[in-house]
Amino acid sequence: RTAPAVIVAIDGPSGTGKSSTSKAVAAQLGLSYLDTGAQYRAITWWMVTNGIDTDDPSAIAAAAGKPDIVSGTDPSSPTITVDGTDVAGPIRTQEVTSKVSAVSAVPEVRARITELQRTIAAGAVTGIVVEGRDIGTTVLPDADLKIFLTASPEARAARRSGELKGADVQATREALLKRDAADSSRKTSPLAKADDAVEVDTSDLTLQQVIECVVTLVEEKRAAK
Ligand code: DC
Repeated sequence: RTAPAVIVAIDGPSGTGKSSTSKAVAAQLGLSYLDTGAQYRAITWWMVTNGIDTDDPSAIAAAAGKPDIVSGTDPSSPTITVDGTDVAGPIRTQEVTSKVSAVSAVPEVRARITELQRTIAAGAVTGIVVEGRDIGTTVLPDADLKIFLTASPEARAARRSGELKGADVQATREALLKRDAADSSRKTSPLAKADDAVEVDTSDLTLQQVIECVVTLVEEKRAAK
């Protein structure tokens, strides 16, 4: 018989290895993959590009339904488009990164993106790994497996500045902690660990070790279904 679809939620702050882990786990297990941070970045990119004042929540709310955001869920080549334009590059700029917390705190934005996420998860035939901040708590509370990745601020800053090629570790650490504080303290579905999530501290683990740990947990859940 074919394995039943398995839904995996992976949440945690940035710099914990969430994206690398989620992509690799999905690829190894033949599951789809959704980067929900990319969706929030995409809507933020659209707001910036269209001159919406990102300090004005009511302006953001009024425009939240306008952009058409489409995510490709193949873990070996995830894609993201806005109104048909490939935005994979532009959503990683510092400007978008500095504004995404404000945009993603607006309830109308979250409602819109959450609906997209649920539709994508429901359509994943073999199952899906969905990574974000509120997947286990809000988007997919009935997920088969919930993982909450953590790491020390030092480990996270070091990883992020490595990704950003030579960025200043201290400045990266401050920007990262500031964004986490905003994401954790917002009113609508903040970054949080679900009560039934498995917490994995990745500070002293290699990426390969984290992947193996999560793959084992998914396989256990799949076997029990
Ligand atoms: O994972 P990332 O750094 O690309 O996410 C960018 C931002 O998007 C993050 O600072 C908060 C927001 N986000 C969110 O509010 N909810 C999610 N499920 C994923 C991301």
